[in-house]
Amino acid sequence: PMPIAVLVSGGGSNLQAIIDRIEAGMLDAEIKVVVSNKADALGLTRAKNHHIPTRVLLHTEFDSRESFDEAMVQAIRESGVTPQGVVAMAGFMRMVTPVFLNAFKGRVVNIHPALLPSFPGVRGQSDAADYGVKIAGCTVHFVDEKMDHGAVIIQAAVPCQPGEGGDRLGSRILRLEHRVLPQALQWLAEDRLTVDGRFVHLKPSTRNLAI
Ligand code: GAR
Repeated sequence: PMPIAVLVSGGGSNLQAIIDRIEAGMLDAEIKVVVSNKADALGLTRAKNHHIPTRVLLHTEFDSRESFDEAMVQAIRESGVTPQGVVAMAGFMRMVTPVFLNAFKGRVVNIHPALLPSFPGVRGQSDAADYGVKIAGCTVHFVDEKMDHGAVIIQAAVPCQPGEGGDRLGSRILRLEHRVLPQALQWLAEDRLTVDGRFVHLKPSTRNLAI
């Protein structure tokens, strides 16, 4: 299985979706560590419930973004995630620096609750709802130095109801997130993604072709 680290800051429902897919045999990965920058993140409890090692690193205790990122790199490496493994940001509400990205080059992915490049930032769902868009959704993308910017791996869309508000829309987007993030990770586990600038190509599956 592909070694992965999952970074969380909160509820960890996307982490749960990854755990559930692994346990169902649909995602060929092993979560080596869950890292949180919040001590009370529910995601930590979810990890412990499944006997997954956890680390809490409080960004407030570091004097620069770089030193915080170095500590994260160390924690992730110690857990057994190699540079060939994958780091999944699943509701991790911090930007990472090149210190982090260079340690896991091309192997860091993020889930964002909007159809990028629309509505980047920390309120993607409510920004989309307030804007009055007719279609919203989520994006899994490779992470680069710019916020919510790297090459897109997969997106999924939902129709919006006028005036339904960010919470309602957000919960429907979240259900989609729980499908696309494990899907993107499985593609990585199968080594099916190639990146050419902004373009992520998906190689055909070689699995299940024989009867
Ligand atoms: C998810 O909706 C995720 O897309 C979003 O935070 C939520 C975390 O939920 N991430 C961002 O907004 C990143 N800018 P979860 O903790 O239940 O997975």
